[in-house]
Amino acid sequence: MSSELLKSIREEFPALKQKVHGKDLVYLDSAATALKPRAVIERLNKFYTLETANVHRGAHYLSDAATTEFEKAREAVRLFLNADSIEEVIFTRGTTEGINLVAQSYGQEFLNEGDEIVLTEIEHHSNIVPWQILAQKRKCVIKYISVNEDGSLNEADIESIIGPKTKMVVFTGCSNIVGTLPPVEKIVAKARSVGAVTLLDAAQYVTQKKTDVKKLDVDFLVFSSHKLFGPFGFGVLYGKKELLNKMAPYQSGGSMISAVGYHDTTYNHLPFKFEAGTPHVSGAIGTMTAIEFLKSYPMEQLFNHEQKLMQMLLQEFKQIEGLKVFGDNSNKAAIISFNLAGAHHSDIGQILDQQGVAVRVGHHCTQPLLAKFKITGTVRASISIYNNESDVAQLVEGVKKAQRMLL
Ligand code: ALA
Repeated sequence: MSSELLKSIREEFPALKQKVHGKDLVYLDSAATALKPRAVIERLNKFYTLETANVHRGAHYLSDAATTEFEKAREAVRLFLNADSIEEVIFTRGTTEGINLVAQSYGQEFLNEGDEIVLTEIEHHSNIVPWQILAQKRKCVIKYISVNEDGSLNEADIESIIGPKTKMVVFTGCSNIVGTLPPVEKIVAKARSVGAVTLLDAAQYVTQKKTDVKKLDVDFLVFSSHKLFGPFGFGVLYGKKELLNKMAPYQSGGSMISAVGYHDTTYNHLPFKFEAGTPHVSGAIGTMTAIEFLKSYPMEQLFNHEQKLMQMLLQEFKQIEGLKVFGDNSNKAAIISFNLAGAHHSDIGQILDQQGVAVRVGHHCTQPLLAKFKITGTVRASISIYNNESDVAQLVEGVKKAQRMLL
């Protein structure tokens, strides 16, 4: 990416202009949530200032206008995902709700005793616990594709673990803690060959790769807007129409009905069957703006820029004695987890914070993976499209300072 393009991207993020503890903010926590571009902030501001109204209900101008924008957002998401139809685009509160919806609605009805659900050992808690709850209720068996020492998946397991009893394969497209980009196509192909249904957790994936549900051929895909430069509390579940049509509603209430009597109800058609209650109208509209924002840049250049910064950081980290990077494999997003021998990750995080450097510390909602690595937490730096070389240098300086102070 040219320095002019990077400069212009940074200009779009007002948060980067502030100081934290008297230092210029170095934001390296984009895997937790991405900063918001001016366009998204202004769109939300305009909606709440002038356009506030509920959708699909009112008989007035503002309600009609809000409904039009809300449904335009659905079309924008459909295009973003290359889905066949807006009926396949369900609006949710986020990745976690999308996964729970599938586990509860599809899983409860179509999985039976002895059926196997295959996950990977690099999943986030939100893509483990819903399946454990389902497996306990339906007496299913959970199996894991194992992780190698370097954070990559053991590809031999894809062949040996996914088998005739596998009914679902649910996996991340990008690890939130070590950045691993699993071989999505290979996993989906194997799942298909045994007739299993697939769900891709694309929470971290959507900012890394062009997300094309037709090419990926996944049955379900979930993501959150807030990691895609959009608002909090809003997400998307993509599902193949034939599967969504077979599934019972996940939650019930207004909007998901077609007709209600005192004793029975008929449900609305897709996608509304899965959208009970007043939806997150501003969330959808803000997401549409976030998608427009992201689409205005060449995705491959954004990815390569993050990769370049990651390589710089990894080279610098190699010079720091006692620093260990977890999941240092060749096919990963710019999410770097590390520890310093003899120092606690929380203390490192605190010292970095004092330097204006924002990272995440702790277990990152991946306790099983950390247990496998025999650690209780890491410091995680996650690089986004707005980070620059100076951010990397300041992180490295901060880590060296932490080492001097703590050891
Ligand atoms: N899942 C988010 C993270 O990895 C919150 O930080």
